[in-house]
Amino acid sequence: MDIITNPEMADAAPTPHQPPVIRREDYKPFPWLLPVTRLNFELGVETTRVTSTLSVERNPAGDASPTITLNGDGISALTIRIDGKQTSEWTMDGGNLLLPLPGASHEIEIVTEIDPSANSQLMGLYASNGMLCTQCEAEGFRRITFFPDRPDVLSTYTVRMTGSQDQFPVLLCNGNKSAEGVGENGTHWAEWHDPWPKPSYLFALVAGDLVVNRGSFTTMSGREVELAIYVRDGDLDRTGHAMASLIKSMKWDEETFGREYDLDVFNIVAVSDFNMGAMENKGLNVFNTKYVLADPDTATDGDFDGVEGVIAHEYFHNWSGNRITCRDWFQLSLKEGFTVLRDQLFSQDMQGEAVKRIEDVRILRSVQFPEDSGPLAHPIRPDSFREISNFYTSTVYNKGAEVIRMMRTMCGPEAFRKGTDLYFDRHDGEAATCEDFILAMEEGAGLDLTQFRLWYSQAGTPKVDIAMAHDGDTATLTVKQTVPPTADLADKLPMPIPLKIALFNRETGKHEGEHLIVLNAAEQTFEFGGFAQPPVLSVNRGFSAPISIERDVPDEDLVFLAAKDDDSFARYEAMQDLIVRHLTAASGGALDDSAREAARMAIAQAFGSILSDDALDDSMRGELVMLPGLTYLAEQQLIADPAAIHTEREGLKAWLGARFESELVLIHQRVSKLPFGLDSASRGARKIKTQVLVYLAAGNPELASKMAAAQYNAADNMTDRQGALMVLTGLGTAARTDKLIDFHRRYKGNELVVDKWFALQASSLHPHAIEHVKALAEHPDFTMRNPNRVRSLYMAFAANPQAFHAADGEGYKIIADLILALDPINPQTAARFVPSLGRWRRIEPARAAMMRAELERIAKSDSLSRDTFEQVTRSLG
Ligand code: ARG
Ligand code: ZN
Repeated sequence: MDIITNPEMADAAPTPHQPPVIRREDYKPFPWLLPVTRLNFELGVETTRVTSTLSVERNPAGDASPTITLNGDGISALTIRIDGKQTSEWTMDGGNLLLPLPGASHEIEIVTEIDPSANSQLMGLYASNGMLCTQCEAEGFRRITFFPDRPDVLSTYTVRMTGSQDQFPVLLCNGNKSAEGVGENGTHWAEWHDPWPKPSYLFALVAGDLVVNRGSFTTMSGREVELAIYVRDGDLDRTGHAMASLIKSMKWDEETFGREYDLDVFNIVAVSDFNMGAMENKGLNVFNTKYVLADPDTATDGDFDGVEGVIAHEYFHNWSGNRITCRDWFQLSLKEGFTVLRDQLFSQDMQGEAVKRIEDVRILRSVQFPEDSGPLAHPIRPDSFREISNFYTSTVYNKGAEVIRMMRTMCGPEAFRKGTDLYFDRHDGEAATCEDFILAMEEGAGLDLTQFRLWYSQAGTPKVDIAMAHDGDTATLTVKQTVPPTADLADKLPMPIPLKIALFNRETGKHEGEHLIVLNAAEQTFEFGGFAQPPVLSVNRGFSAPISIERDVPDEDLVFLAAKDDDSFARYEAMQDLIVRHLTAASGGALDDSAREAARMAIAQAFGSILSDDALDDSMRGELVMLPGLTYLAEQQLIADPAAIHTEREGLKAWLGARFESELVLIHQRVSKLPFGLDSASRGARKIKTQVLVYLAAGNPELASKMAAAQYNAADNMTDRQGALMVLTGLGTAARTDKLIDFHRRYKGNELVVDKWFALQASSLHPHAIEHVKALAEHPDFTMRNPNRVRSLYMAFAANPQAFHAADGEGYKIIADLILALDPINPQTAARFVPSLGRWRRIEPARAAMMRAELERIAKSDSLSRDTFEQVTRSLG
């Protein structure tokens, strides 16, 4: 970790228990430039030999230093040559290599040997089903060869790969292929050259026996780009949607952001063992199979959207990430927040804005809000870390996107485009900072972001309190904001908060137009004239700011908005508010039977108007009737009792299910008649179909079981089949076992569908879900070596509120055991399970004590990875 060393930390020698803290303020440019990098790979699954040749020159902007420090992690040098002469004058500092370099420019040649088959962390070069592939972001390149493995060192790469023709018929790397040929003993080789200088984290190599779907794209300036998606034999017929998504993304980025692709080829490779979703390596994106493979029989509508969104995301990185990269990892949101916004805007254009916005907000509130209010809270531009992998978070990604979206809301799409044009223009070819982005926005879009910069440095979800008074014909809004304290910072300043609002006339059900108000102080008032009667306030329309709102508003206003608001998000929000308020009060023990009945009646009124509104499409109807998730509900309470919330939530579901049984059954019958299609009407039909079963399962389990079994049997697509099986899995009927067996048999060998089979059982409402999870851990299809499989069982379980929060603490123990067992195999994935236990301060005391005890048990292990150590320490601290 030589990137940034804090002098104050120097004598507090880091032990394996205390990996060093890296700080943003300590940034220093690297003292050397590396204009040219040549790599030679002699490939083997068990032994790969890497020869790297680096030409280095002193960086005029860096400190003069007689040595160069090259990062390494778990590798050793077989030979080192400086300017052609072998040398033994080097030392190691931890994993890093220190070489004396007296002159102004040198050539360094280093040979290393690695064993990809032993790489279970899936960082660096590793083997997956006999193929070789790489993952280098953030700090994986140092597991391949010694290198200044930091994003501000840009170099042009020429790579030669040699390997067995049988084992590795396909040899891929970044850039364009410049030469290839046949060697001795059944080997062949290929040479690739990437003309664009890039940081090491964007390096990629793939060697394997793969089949390919080829396509092409002509860019706006008329250049022909060859597109290729590489997959394992047998998967080819599931790559059509990915190819179509890639072509749409390329077109959209030209039209919307003026960005054109810059190489002759764009390659995508699907890998089944992958820690994250996908990776934007220059010209050679490597993807988790989950975000490439899709057909109607094996992928749900949600999976199709996931493929489209992730393909777009990685493609968009070519400009926001690759052409302009990050100066250091504290700037991660510069590329991730911006690219998430770009992929969200793309998906909105592809699928419709209303539903997409609701889905994005749901993710933000169920994942990012809890992060922002818990022990792992950090600003979108963090100030320190021990292990950067722990900062690939919903805050950096999703809140990062919301922050840039607010800029867009404040200046409008045209000015926003001027700002991004200036940013791309000014920083092309550079490693930039968030501050560079902000400056380009101020200048290009004409925004003053002086105070707005606080969004980059203050963590915590702002709370906004709104009260409306009416006097004469004037409505006055009094708005107060507070930014809650987080572990890193107690006292916060008010931030600019753009709020889109509308004031509805109660009689006409209409408003006179939307207003954008920007809060910038702790307390402000806003006056609106022309209202003889108190209007109904619709606020934070389109979720214009990532905040939480408190307001004292009568149920009838929410019922009004749930039925009439012309902003789809605000309509959804009114329905959610109505339910959240009720469930929060009820689970806090604040309601007697008659108060509960009154609140349920208000919800029923809104629910009924949504079911019967012919003007609504079914996709939106499906969103509007979805109950808020337990995590989001728990988030509304200072100290939550998960069992009480769950009971009230299930109680409401059953009550609505019983009350609206005949309406729900009619909807199910109506939409079941529609033939399968990928158009939005058919997709909406499938969404509401399963929602109906969810309510009926609570209200009338017998009937729901029959209908779900019928839906399962009649299904000609995965959305219907999985939806039906999800409902059955939560019930105790005979159809449950039947269909689970059938599903596994039907899709045996299809890893992604078997993942669904695990996840459905681990996330089920079944009272014995814990026993099921324990049994599934012993199932022959379960393995700790495949991150998708681990997540399908244990992430699903950790997100299953009633099972995970079992009163005896068994759920917590299962996750702690998993973390301890997975940490030595794959620390990055193991550390991702810590946040579920880290929520202990916000859970009722009996459970909190057990959660904390499990974290302490993990902390006692003296061989924790940096990843898990950091997350556990922060969670206990
Ligand atoms: N840059 C990738 C993406 O968001 C994610 C890679 C994260 N890798 C990691 N090891 N944390 O598109
Ligand atoms: Zn990304």
